[in-house]
Amino acid sequence: MDRFYITTPIYYVNDVPHMGHAYATVNADAIARWHRLIGDDTLFLTGTDEHGAKVAEAAAQNGVSPKEWTDRTSARFQEAWAGLNISNDDFIRTTDERHYATVQRFLQKIYDNGYIVKDTYTGPYCVACEDYYTQEQLVDGKCPVHGRAVTEMSEDNYFFRLSAFEDKLLAWYESDPETIRPSSKRNEALSFIKGGLKDVSITRTSLDWGVSVPWDQDHVFYVWYDALINYLTAIGYDEDPERVALWWPKVHHLIGKEIIRFHCVWWPAMCMAAGIEPPAHIFVHGWLLVGGKKLSKSMASGEEAPVKLTEITPASLIADVGVDALRYHLLRDTPLGTDGEFSIEGLTSRYNSDLANNLGNLVARVATVVGSKCEGIGPAPDPESPLAPAAATAVANAREAWERFAPHEALEATWRLIGAANQELETTEPWKAEPGTVDAVLGSSLEVLRIVSLLIAPAMPATAAEIWSRIGLSDTVDAQRLPEAARWGGYPGGLAVTKGEPLFPRRKSGT
Ligand code: MSP
Repeated sequence: MDRFYITTPIYYVNDVPHMGHAYATVNADAIARWHRLIGDDTLFLTGTDEHGAKVAEAAAQNGVSPKEWTDRTSARFQEAWAGLNISNDDFIRTTDERHYATVQRFLQKIYDNGYIVKDTYTGPYCVACEDYYTQEQLVDGKCPVHGRAVTEMSEDNYFFRLSAFEDKLLAWYESDPETIRPSSKRNEALSFIKGGLKDVSITRTSLDWGVSVPWDQDHVFYVWYDALINYLTAIGYDEDPERVALWWPKVHHLIGKEIIRFHCVWWPAMCMAAGIEPPAHIFVHGWLLVGGKKLSKSMASGEEAPVKLTEITPASLIADVGVDALRYHLLRDTPLGTDGEFSIEGLTSRYNSDLANNLGNLVARVATVVGSKCEGIGPAPDPESPLAPAAATAVANAREAWERFAPHEALEATWRLIGAANQELETTEPWKAEPGTVDAVLGSSLEVLRIVSLLIAPAMPATAAEIWSRIGLSDTVDAQRLPEAARWGGYPGGLAVTKGEPLFPRRKSGT
């Protein structure tokens, strides 16, 4: 049995979850669900990043202690993920005791190995990024990511000797061209390294909201150096070597494009410094944009926002279109690796074309005609149906696309099969035929619906379960294992088919 360990970044709790976070988490969830479906022992980790100046600032602005603030906001993420049907196996908070202890052990090891030293650092610092910049990196004297003013900071700090890892990182990149995908992002990370690596300040004395440095209690670790280690905390680093060996280094980190440097340069070097293998795979996705701009906290608070983000939270969209329609839109319309524009119009048009017209229509038609021509009892599929090879192609294409972290292509392949089944019904018009002559085409349509339920399950788990039960199947979709379960001929026939309410009633455009 294969193992599959996938992570999202852990989200800062200075803000509440927005559609950008939902995009990232739904993609990781769908990929994890696919791997469970093909029988992989799967570990899907997400969580919240709770230390650092930005979170302490948010707590102070809201007049509560950092602990109270992080408890409250971390809960908002957990609620949002429950609402989006996210199937994470663990939820890590960097304020968890297990994490605190792991960070101290991991960084103590790097210190003992001679890769952490004391020095003074001065430079422009962006509180929103929690990061220092060089003068050259600033844009008009401001943070290149947030466009906000930077502060000149000077601290007597401990430094991670990142410069000692230039050659080792280059050799690691050379050893496997697939470690960082897509290749454009690999090249971006490589150029950071080739541009020369400077040592990084990794502790702070100006702040106490963090993990304290075990060998010097006046310092806390810089939030990024604490956060990255979460991926090891969850698998029992230094406590349960057998468990670590099960999941590491074959991890898949799904990350956004603005945090490449931390994950593709710092993190592998930190692993090397601690004497463990760097992560096997980092996949970099783009941003969900609104009006061409990245969704962010500043937009959530109303500034410059072309659309009021408070009106398009994941929860409000779920209440409006349903959880699976939202998941489908996020997975289908913004391919992983590129930026995508989020709009209500885009969501509605995708909903009407793919969900109402194609999938919903197929389910409704088949159930209606089975009701009128077969007394509601679904016939068995035709082994010679032209839909059989179409289904096999869809399954193979979907599998290959999920493996490449291309959910949109897996769904496209599935919708080609749905289109073929609708077309077959148009051609054979079983609703006009005599009862008794329609079994083959209706049985084959039901078989397509069974296979489609399996293929959409990672993206739309509730819809998959609903179709599965409407066509009379017992057991659950989750209990099925691909590829065996998706072979043509699995629908037994003789099952009661239920018509039910329309799965996706058409929406007026723009609503
Ligand atoms: N706390 C750090 C990550 C530490 S991981 C060890 C952080 N948090 S974040 O909340 O700012 O961002 C978390 C992830 O959400 C990032 O990968 C980021 O790209 C993603 N997104 C935030 N807004 C986004 C969009 N508008 N679109 C897509 N993803 C975006 O960075």
